[in-house]
Amino acid sequence: MKLPNLLDAKIRNRSKVEYLEAEVLKDGSLFKGKRYFLKTYGCQMNVHDSELIRNLVESIGFIESETMEGADLVILNTCAIRENAHDKMYGFLGRCKHEKTKNRNLIICICGCMAQEPSVCEEILEKYKYVDIVFGTHNIHELPNLLLNRMNKTDIEVESIEGNVYENLDYKRDSSIEAWVNIMYGCDKFCTYCIVPYTRGKQRSRKSSRILQEIKELKDRGYKEITLLGQNVNAYGKDLEGELSFSDLLLKVSDIGIERIRFVTSHPWDFSDEMIEAIASRDNIMPYIHLPLQSGSSRILKLMGRRYTKEEYLALYDKIKTRIPDAAITTDIIVGFPGETEEDFQETLEVVKKCKYDSAFTFVFSPRVGTPAEKLPDETTLKEKEDRLHRLNEVVNALSLETNEKYVGKTVKVLINGQSDKGENKVCGYTESMKLVNVVGAEDSIGKIIEVEITEAKSFSLNGVKK
Ligand code: SAH
Ligand code: SF4
Ligand code: F3S
Repeated sequence: MKLPNLLDAKIRNRSKVEYLEAEVLKDGSLFKGKRYFLKTYGCQMNVHDSELIRNLVESIGFIESETMEGADLVILNTCAIRENAHDKMYGFLGRCKHEKTKNRNLIICICGCMAQEPSVCEEILEKYKYVDIVFGTHNIHELPNLLLNRMNKTDIEVESIEGNVYENLDYKRDSSIEAWVNIMYGCDKFCTYCIVPYTRGKQRSRKSSRILQEIKELKDRGYKEITLLGQNVNAYGKDLEGELSFSDLLLKVSDIGIERIRFVTSHPWDFSDEMIEAIASRDNIMPYIHLPLQSGSSRILKLMGRRYTKEEYLALYDKIKTRIPDAAITTDIIVGFPGETEEDFQETLEVVKKCKYDSAFTFVFSPRVGTPAEKLPDETTLKEKEDRLHRLNEVVNALSLETNEKYVGKTVKVLINGQSDKGENKVCGYTESMKLVNVVGAEDSIGKIIEVEITEAKSFSLNGVKK
C-alpha cells in the first residue's frame, strides 16, 4: 500500500507514526471501510485538489459518502476569494458541530485557501475547537500522516516549503473523459485586491517533461480533453531556467494528439503573439480564451495592479479576434473597486459592449484581509455597487444571449460528457467554444465528439439534436 511520506521528517510524533504504520500494514488499513464526506468550494484549482484528496484518503481505506450524516471524516476544501466564502465555511462548520454531537469520533478537517490564512487558523484554534485537522494548500499530500497521527487537539499543518512542487501525485479524477492538469501552482502577480498569492504561494511551474508525461498517460487511458490549469497559465515556465514558454508547451501538448486542449486562466499581460499563433494553427487547441478584464478604466486597472491599460486590453482583444475570428472570449469583472466612480464604471460597460463577451463572471469587490486594496479609501455604498453589478449583468446577459442565438441552425462539434439534468433522454457536453449544449438523440454518445445541430439558444446554454 502506498502511503505518501508516512515517515516524513516533519512528523512531530515519530514513534506514534511508526506504531500506526505497523498497525495499518497489519490490518490492511486502519481506516478500512470508514466513510468520508468531502465538500469543495472555489475554483478549478480546488476542484482538482479535491481529486487528489479523494485518492489520498481512499489509499488509507476510506470510502466516499454522499452525505455528511453517518460519515467518520468530513473534509471541507475552502475558498478565500471573497467574504461570502468565509460565511459558507462557518455555516458548514455549524453543521459539522451538530454531527459531532451525534458521533463524537467524527474527524473534521479544514483545508484549501482559507486554511492557509493565519487569521482563520487563529480563529479555529480559539473558537472552533471541535475542528481536528487544518491543512494548507501546500500540505495536501500530508493528509494521511495527519489522520494517522491525530492527537486530541486541533492539529494545524499549513507550512509552505519555498518552491515545492510535488510530483507523482495520483488523482481520483471525477471524469474519465475530461481531465485537469496542473502546469503551475501559485501566482506572482499580486493584483492588489487578490488573496490568491498569499493562499497559494509564489508561482511554481512544473517541469514540462512531467506535464507532457501526465498528458500522454491520460491520452492512453482514453481521455478526450485536458485543461491546463494555473492562475496564470501563460506565465508558465518564467520561474524555471531553460523551461519551455507557454506557447511552446501548448504546441508540445498538441503534438501528443489528445483531441481537445484547453487552458485557464491566461492573463492579458503575458499573452504573447506566439500563443495566439499556436491556438490559431492547431485544431486540437480549442478556440476558447478566458481573458479577465477586471475593469475597463485604466485608472482603476492601475490601482488594481493589473499591468495593462484599457487600450492595451482592447488592442490584444482585436489581435486575437483578427487571427482567430471564431474564438470565444469570456472574462471576469469586478465592480466597486475602492475609488471606482460612475465614469469608471461606464468605461467598463463600454469595453464589455465592444468585446461582446461570450460570457462574464461578475463580482462586487470584496476586501480581503492583508491585501493592499483592503486599506484603500472607499466611499461608494454597497447599494451603489450592487446597482452597478445589476446594470453590468443586464448587459453581459443580453450579449451572451446574442452570441448564443448566432449558433441556431449551425452544426457544431460537441464532446458529450454525461447525462443532462434537463431531461432523461438528454445528454450534454461542450462545443469547442465551451458552450454547454443539451442534446437529444445521443444517449449512446457519452465520451464521444459528435456533430450537433443547434435548435435553440438560451442565455447560458444551447439545445440541439444529434446529426
Ligand atoms: N488568476 C485569475 C483569477 C483568479 S480569481 C486572473 O488573474 O484572472 C477569479 C476572479 O475572482 C478574479 O478574476 C476576480 O475577478 C475575482 N476576484 C478576485 N479577488 C476578488 C476580490 N477581492 N473581490 C471581488 N472579486 C475578486
Ligand atoms: Fe489573483 Fe491577479 Fe494572481 Fe489572478 S493574476 S490569481 S487575480 S493576483
Ligand atoms: Fe478560491 Fe483559492 Fe481558487 S481562493 S478561487 S479556491 S485559488
